Amino acid sequence: MNSFESNNHHVLPDPPNHPIKSKFKKLAFQTIPLLILFTAILLGFTTTNYYKILYFKFSLKSKTLFTPPKTLSTPSHCLLWMAPFLSGGGYSSEGWSYILSLHGHTKIQSFRLAIEHHGDLESLDFWEGLPQDMKNLAVELYQTKCNMNETVVICHSEPGAWYPPLFDTFPCPPSFYRHFKAVIGRTMFETDRVNVEHVERCNRMDYVWVPTDFHKATFIESGVNASKVVKIVQPIDVKFFDPDKYKALDLDSTGKLILGSEVKTGFVFLSIFKWEYRKGWDVLLKSYLKEFSKDDSVVLYLLTNPYHTERDFGNKILDFVENSGFEEPVSGWASVYVIDTHIAQSELPRVYKAADAFVLPSRGEGWGRPLVEAMSMSLPVIATNWSGPTEFLTEDNSYPLPVDRMSELMEGPFKGHLWAEPSEDKLQVLMRQVMDNPAEAKAKGRKAREDMIRQFSPEIVADIVADHIQNILGST
Ligand SMILES: *[C@@H]1O[C@H](CO)[C@@H](O)[C@H](O)[C@H]1NC(C)=O
Ligand SMILES: *[C@@H]1O[C@H](CO)[C@@H](O)[C@H](O)[C@H]1NC(C)=O
Ligand SMILES: *[C@@H]1O[C@H](CO)[C@@H](O)[C@H](O)[C@H]1NC(C)=O
Repeated sequence: MNSFESNNHHVLPDPPNHPIKSKFKKLAFQTIPLLILFTAILLGFTTTNYYKILYFKFSLKSKTLFTPPKTLSTPSHCLLWMAPFLSGGGYSSEGWSYILSLHGHTKIQSFRLAIEHHGDLESLDFWEGLPQDMKNLAVELYQTKCNMNETVVICHSEPGAWYPPLFDTFPCPPSFYRHFKAVIGRTMFETDRVNVEHVERCNRMDYVWVPTDFHKATFIESGVNASKVVKIVQPIDVKFFDPDKYKALDLDSTGKLILGSEVKTGFVFLSIFKWEYRKGWDVLLKSYLKEFSKDDSVVLYLLTNPYHTERDFGNKILDFVENSGFEEPVSGWASVYVIDTHIAQSELPRVYKAADAFVLPSRGEGWGRPLVEAMSMSLPVIATNWSGPTEFLTEDNSYPLPVDRMSELMEGPFKGHLWAEPSEDKLQVLMRQVMDNPAEAKAKGRKAREDMIRQFSPEIVADIVADHIQNILGST
């Protein structure tokens, strides 16, 4: 029984009898994005005839496409993980990392694993770029059928997506909170606090899982009930992100040259981020262009994609450089490339493999997946020493970038929150240092991979998750 529900279900209305309840009875296809995608894949659809999927969405209604689930001798308890599995992006890759860790883990013999897409729009491009074994696993786990009263639900998304969602998404939990054994919200944030609406939503959950001590502190300070907040770190697939398994991708031919000239053999800085101010791309460009010139034989690759913006990053960079009044060095600009084409998940390790160092002077991060991916690939990492990444950045395994000051968000829904302004001067110093001291950089990269394996490898994190679920199932 959901302990919180009984006190508080008057605060927010319960969900209506939503069709997704069908996961627990019969399938109702018209509401299940995962199934739509599977249908598309099974029938060999491509992105260009996506409309056919929409057609199927309405024509399949209530027939069963899949064979019934295995029964007998399987545990009756379920862990239903609901996340943007088909969207790409931060919560999506985090959701996948848990599922891959938990699947087949020896400790989870007392419950079955189920998944459902929730929290963001599904992307066919993303699905198609997934390795085949992940697709197979998704299809398998999607078919798990559970009794609601024996299911622990994880709503893995931003609290605005939790029932009742503030935007159009599949509800989580899929039915009345109290119908489930327990409901857990898995979330995080990138500023120094959580807003009132999100605090309320967190407090409706039985537990709130956050990835770091930073979040434990900020969530509790913001008013989330301390007894509900649990730190569960994120796994990183250290076998997939293993530098020994890959050949470098040819970044030169994948990216577009924006500033400077072609450099055949130079030191390669890589940054990966969504194009938004929070990521500190302005700080990165400023420090990089001030510190280096063409004489340095250095390249900066920015692997980016739009975040509520159009795609024209090249011109944005040129405008930024012009408006900032930087002076072009006598020998010419150090080179900057943009990669804005879709890189399939399966190709991502080869991008890291092509770099000598990873750099991200972000103003705030939930966890910083590209950072741990880079670290797992044994790259030396320069990243802002604030928020989520403080969970894993140390002087021994990386180059933690000091913060100059806190600054206030001046607009948007999180106006008034604070985040960090990383030091531009120190960033210059650290970029020069990593380039000029290859032995030190290599040693930090090696230590980074060791730390990732020791602290965040899938088996270790799956143990932590399984223990918590076990405790919940064991109580009441
Ligand atoms: C849960 O519900 C199912 C079906 O309604 C029932 O058979 C089962 O005994 C219930 N389990 C618990 C633990 O209440
Ligand atoms: C915090 O949560 C616990 C467990 O759900 C509950 O017993 C307690 O009353 C809550 N405290 C507040 C201040 O809401
Ligand atoms: C990084 O931040 C932590 C506090 O979160 C601090 O203890 C540590 O000294 C900082 N490291 C550097 C290099 O600034």
